[in-house]
Amino acid sequence: MKVINIKDKLVSSIGTKRFNHSIRVVDTAMKLSRMHNVSLKKTHIAAILHDCGRLKEDNKVLEKLKYYGIILDNDTSGNLNLQHSILGRFIASEEFGIEDCDILNAIRFHTTGRRRMTDIEKIIYLADAIEPDREYEGVELIRKIAQVDLDKALLISLEQTLDYLKKNDISINKNTIEAIEWLKK
Ligand SMILES: [Fe+2]
Ligand SMILES: [Fe+2]
Repeated sequence: MKVINIKDKLVSSIGTKRFNHSIRVVDTAMKLSRMHNVSLKKTHIAAILHDCGRLKEDNKVLEKLKYYGIILDNDTSGNLNLQHSILGRFIASEEFGIEDCDILNAIRFHTTGRRRMTDIEKIIYLADAIEPDREYEGVELIRKIAQVDLDKALLISLEQTLDYLKKNDISINKNTIEAIEWLKK
């Protein structure tokens, strides 16, 4: 599927606001890819599609997960943030024709991270967290470190997420814990 077709389909399913965020993620991810010598083509596709599961209407996310026969565990059943990345992986393959595992995994794990992330997964996770419209304490530091050390930037970002989840009493996905343990080794 050509990029132009991706755009039309994406705008209608995720809305303009989310699409514009995805464009900023593309810009950020492409810069990181150039700096770290990662495939620009794969990064571009993964970045533009990373939120393809974030459908405009929340109830459609569950509907579509069901349609694809995806069974949610306790951890994910009430968590829309996790659901959209699980669904996104299926929408990317079934509706956008993406077959590349690196791209599909970057979409699947862009909310949680995981153990043994590839460079594309790291870049999409980080670009989503540091695109220019993101404003939170510490984002500048992560932006700066991401230019020179993806792993270090990722670890800081994941630990911040973990802190946030703990403070707000939100369940912590095991992939996030495993990603942090893996990066610390
Ligand atoms: Fe997302
Ligand atoms: Fe996003």
